[in-house]
Amino acid sequence: MTINKKPYLQSAALRPDTVADLERYPFTIPAIRDFVQMDFHRDVTFFVGENGSGKSTMLEALAVGLGFGKDGGTRSVRITGVSDQVSGLHEHLRLGKSYKKPNDSYFLRAESFFNVASYMDEMPEYLGSYGGKSLHAQSHGEAFMATMLNKLRGQGLYLLDEPEAALSPSRQLAALSVIHQLVQDDSQLIIATHSPILLAYPHAKIYMFTGGGIHEVAYEDTEHYAVTRDFLNNYPRRLEQLFEEE
Ligand SMILES: Nc1ncnc2c1ncn2[C@@H]1O[C@H](COP(=O)(O)OP(=O)(O)O)[C@@H](O)[C@H]1O
Ligand SMILES: [Mg+2]
Repeated sequence: MTINKKPYLQSAALRPDTVADLERYPFTIPAIRDFVQMDFHRDVTFFVGENGSGKSTMLEALAVGLGFGKDGGTRSVRITGVSDQVSGLHEHLRLGKSYKKPNDSYFLRAESFFNVASYMDEMPEYLGSYGGKSLHAQSHGEAFMATMLNKLRGQGLYLLDEPEAALSPSRQLAALSVIHQLVQDDSQLIIATHSPILLAYPHAKIYMFTGGGIHEVAYEDTEHYAVTRDFLNNYPRRLEQLFEEE
């Protein structure tokens, strides 16, 4: 029998003894309030759901629980005083981990990528691993791609929050190919996304965050797939309908 080292992060569960204050963030978020447990795919796990449904809160709790700073970067990046407090959700979670630690890890967060870029400018010795050029001297999309290509070295555990935010459709396809290379190189990724392109990745599990909890869904049952497909196939008519209703 072979013992798998992946997934490095196997599960997250609410601690049975935890005391959750349902009147306060993060337990005011329906998906978080009803959360019991989730099991991660050995390759890729996606978080999807409406804006404000709790994807970033959960991803951040996993990240903080794994030892990252809340603004992301490698585990050595510590940025203080630049953004809001963490939710505290990590204190209520128990993380199930592999016997084997990943060799590499990164928490990539679109919302605070700018902060990480500034931090890196102050630590020129780190820039080499980001492609040697200040991330501020590159467009947001270029800087993001440079990070994915140079910083994620493989055999790693990577948490990505809306990595598509800055990427053109063809860059999203390139990102998909980077994800596949990383998976083949023994990596595990957990990705919050709205991208119907990224979500198509086949070796994956999709968790949808809703008002009624967190559920697993098939790619073709996501709104991302259905709405995008329908719109592109029928856009003149859909536009007419949309504007009639206004
Ligand atoms: N620090 C915070 N304090 C209070 N509420 C917050 C905080 N951060 C996020 N929220 C709220 O929690 C909800 C979920 O946010 P978030 O996890 O960022 O959603 P998503 O990433 O799915 O868009 C939102 O309604 C947001 O306004
Ligand atoms: Mg978010």
